[in-house]
Amino acid sequence: MGENAWAYISTGTADELTLRSNREALERLRLQGRVLTEMSGAQTRLELLGDAYEYPVLLAPAAYHRLLHPEGEVATALGASAMRAGMIVSTQASVPVEEIARRATGPLWFQLYVQHDRAFTKSLVQRAANAGYRALVLTVDVPVSLRNREQRAGFRLPPGVAAVNLRGMVPPPPPRAEPHESEVFRGLLDGAPTWKDIAWLRSISPLPLLLKGIMSPADALRAVDEGVDGIIVSNHGGRALDTAPAAIEALPLIAEAVAGRVPLLMDGGIRRGTDVVKALALGARAVLIGRPYLHGLAVAGPLGVAHVLKILRTELEIAMALTGCATLRDITPEVIWR
Ligand SMILES: Cc1cc2nc3c(=O)[nH]c(=O)nc-3n(C[C@H](O)[C@H](O)[C@H](O)COP(=O)(O)O)c2cc1C
Repeated sequence: MGENAWAYISTGTADELTLRSNREALERLRLQGRVLTEMSGAQTRLELLGDAYEYPVLLAPAAYHRLLHPEGEVATALGASAMRAGMIVSTQASVPVEEIARRATGPLWFQLYVQHDRAFTKSLVQRAANAGYRALVLTVDVPVSLRNREQRAGFRLPPGVAAVNLRGMVPPPPPRAEPHESEVFRGLLDGAPTWKDIAWLRSISPLPLLLKGIMSPADALRAVDEGVDGIIVSNHGGRALDTAPAAIEALPLIAEAVAGRVPLLMDGGIRRGTDVVKALALGARAVLIGRPYLHGLAVAGPLGVAHVLKILRTELEIAMALTGCATLRDITPEVIWR
């Protein structure tokens, strides 16, 4: 991929401490190997929000796949479908949600960024539901953020790549702040969603609702109280609050608070099958991957995405065999070496 796209894909916020810690924390964890376990009939199937999945890895929502491949999200969906993996399509997808749905044969979820224009937001949710998306993922962790490395690289969307699903929206009003006033509090945060929007979203959408970007047990409990159907523990791949802990560090605390009332998913730094095992051992039902499949997409389009999934799935099966886990249910906290 070109330098411009690389600046967008690879960066995290500010000093990228959280971006790095996602990997470092996973690398610090050790797995407890087990031997001579009966593995006949071993498999990786799971049920999530009423649908069956063959293995616990989904593609995380990411904006602008056409930065990486001319067919953008359609190419990604073809790769995911070939490997029967779930894919979460971003609000900032560079291909219309309906077109992605027409071409995909695997399950799609829709990731929502609530827009300041709530009527437009509602129509977007309805478009996704009408197109057959299976769940709504509300991302809550980046009302504002600043990626300095991307800024320094002078990243710009190339001509022809845009958030096409947001076309037709009333543009946000220009920031109202006078030069001596706060641009953040009086401009960028205008129209950002709050807890009040959760009940509203549930009232306008027939789809199961998940919150993505929860890192605090208190927020997780509030989300359960608000009636969400699932939580994605995530720091946005280090692109939201810098100096936040690794997602894998927040996961067990949130799992303890939520106590199985809704399924937990997790993302941030998942690169190997052993990482998937670690996340499941600490309370996740499934994981999402972001940058790995974006790299696959850039290298080889649908085949690249499928290949990344294939590698990860195979590694997961090997890690399960070597930790004596014949099914996902066998992946308990005892798998983590202490
Ligand atoms: C280039 C890029 C674009 C992203 N765009 C979105 C987005 O539009 N919506 C969203 O909820 N998360 C977005 N994310 C966050 C991912 O969904 C996910 O949380 C993160 O990439 C997981 O970490 P990983 O890349 O280490 O696997 C984006 C991440 C990257 C790297």
